[in-house]
Amino acid sequence: MSAVTSRSRRSVLAVPGSNPRFVEKARGLPVDAFFLDLEDAVAPSEKERARDTVAAALNEGGWEGRIRTVRVNDLTTEWTYRDVITVVERAGANLDCLVLPKVTEAAQVRWLDILLTQIESAVGLERGRIGIEAQIEDARGLVAVDEIAAASPRLETLVYGPADFMASINMRTLVVGEQPPGYDTGDAYHYVLMRILMAARANDLQAIDGPYLQIRDVEAFRRSAGRTAALGFDGKWVLHPAQVDAANEVYTPSQADYDHAELILDAYEHATKVRHQGAVMLGDEMLDEASRKMALVVAGKGRAAGLRRTAAFTPEEE
Ligand code: GLV
Ligand code: MG
Repeated sequence: MSAVTSRSRRSVLAVPGSNPRFVEKARGLPVDAFFLDLEDAVAPSEKERARDTVAAALNEGGWEGRIRTVRVNDLTTEWTYRDVITVVERAGANLDCLVLPKVTEAAQVRWLDILLTQIESAVGLERGRIGIEAQIEDARGLVAVDEIAAASPRLETLVYGPADFMASINMRTLVVGEQPPGYDTGDAYHYVLMRILMAARANDLQAIDGPYLQIRDVEAFRRSAGRTAALGFDGKWVLHPAQVDAANEVYTPSQADYDHAELILDAYEHATKVRHQGAVMLGDEMLDEASRKMALVVAGKGRAAGLRRTAAFTPEEE
């Protein structure tokens, strides 16, 4: 199965790594993935202490079934290398991925790949198991996104960072995720989102949408998530328990679409293997190999999200 459909990341919870109370709360939330943050949710004075909190939280466990990640500081800071070394040396066995923020060139991903390999060898961890998630958060990162996406076999996702991105291009608004006032033609984010999505899909990575900061407005979160889900994004960051169910729902195919996709797969397999035909009708719908590929995506996302079929395929009489 491709990376795009193998592990669900519909909801990715941001957890400030310096706050043990938030870390404890996070354990009870039904998210697909979480990241313990060492970057922008942690004050400079707390950066070093946060590494201890994060490593201890990973080792204490209680994260069953969820993808466990840590966001380190970006490579323009003095903190990144020690973030990686401390967390992976102490808790690498209980860590699935590192999130590298503000990636602006492929060399930064390669640096992290090499450092991870060294640490894995030094402390006896399986080589190559810990993945990398690259945040695309500024103009330089977006311009280099194709090379970034191809920089390492450890890469699992590209993550859009809307807040930093909007600041980086001087967008004239303070409301993250909403259209800038005055721009009344089209979607101001369409190019950015599609650019990231293309680079992700061309390299078999997941594409993850970033945060929506108005945490009390769940309907607005749902609208924002719905737009990227419709384009093909795999999930979105969540900042608050109220956003979790909405994300899980929005990035899961509907039961009807899931059933339909499984029917297409069955009907097409029956057509090609039993009847030796490359095009076939399912009800009023003409199916061919391209229909199968579209159905595979929806079926893959549905299976990964734990959906069960409610409609069985019965071949039509000749
Ligand atoms: C996330 O990191 C963002 O900048 O939106
Ligand atoms: Mg950011």
